[in-house]
Amino acid sequence: MDLRRLLASYKDRTEQQLSQRMAHSSIDPTLQQAMQYGLFNGGKRVRPTLVYLVNQLLDGDLHNADAPACALEAIHSYSLIHDDLPAMDDDDLRRGKPTCHIKFDEATAILAGDALLTLAFELISDTREDTLTPQLKLRMVNRLALAAGDKGMVTGQSFDVRHEGQMLTLEQLQAMHRHKTGALLCVAIELGALSAGCENDQILQPLRNYGEAIGLAFQVRDDILDIEGDTATLGKPQGSDQAASKPTYPALLGLTGAHQKLEQLRQDAHNALTGFGNEAEPLRQLADYIATRSH
Ligand code: IPE
Ligand code: IPE
Ligand code: MG
Ligand code: MG
Ligand code: MG
Repeated sequence: MDLRRLLASYKDRTEQQLSQRMAHSSIDPTLQQAMQYGLFNGGKRVRPTLVYLVNQLLDGDLHNADAPACALEAIHSYSLIHDDLPAMDDDDLRRGKPTCHIKFDEATAILAGDALLTLAFELISDTREDTLTPQLKLRMVNRLALAAGDKGMVTGQSFDVRHEGQMLTLEQLQAMHRHKTGALLCVAIELGALSAGCENDQILQPLRNYGEAIGLAFQVRDDILDIEGDTATLGKPQGSDQAASKPTYPALLGLTGAHQKLEQLRQDAHNALTGFGNEAEPLRQLADYIATRSH
């Protein structure tokens, strides 16, 4: 199957699973609408897809990947709702639609984010729908918490908002990107492996190296698209980073330097997978897709 069809099938699976898991809640209708709005507005579902791809690479049972895939996407969706808030990036367009705080209001957007973050841990710790051991589930919870919180994504976001208008060193920029975007992409790999019952470091290390490379590449591409993309294709405002003087790869290395960095990371991702055969082809194609995507 080519990558586009594979992505489409895992995107569908993620959305079906998310709607099933959301349907059981009996919460405040406005909060629920805002959560749904943040979750079901046309995301690419790259992170859950990665969970499924690694689960399949390691011969896992796909059902065991559903909860971690949904949990990760819930955290990603919350991170975008909060990222767009006036106190953060102050953006009013996301995936071609008004951002959550514009569609609803700021308090509702903050609360929808809070609820999606918490929902992630409800989903991943639920023991009814899979055949994973409690030990594996606990490890998943721990990995997800480490990636999402003050040791991962939130620290990257905090560094980002604190350094608007400042020139970072390459090391600082790389560390920021690793945290704010790399952490959630890397944990997709860990969750995919755990969902397949794999904790073997020899198998996992090359996949982790792959995750590091695509995690960084994802944000370098995002930074480039802020300059080279157009608002209609991106579904979010082009030029938003420049307007806010964000520390980005193009700001530090120039556009050519950022493109070179991206190509190097794409190659790093391929190099990490040399020990695998054809079965890792979807991961190779995913690295190419991440480095060349238009939105
Ligand atoms: C956007 O993530 C935010 C970054 C981490 C750069 P995605 O590009 O995965 O956003 P969606 O979910 O597909 O809209
Ligand atoms: C945000 O990076 C990444 C997270 C939400 C953790 P950006 O601020 O560059 O993402 P976009 O460009 O708004 O999607
Ligand atoms: Mg941001
Ligand atoms: Mg942003
Ligand atoms: Mg961006």
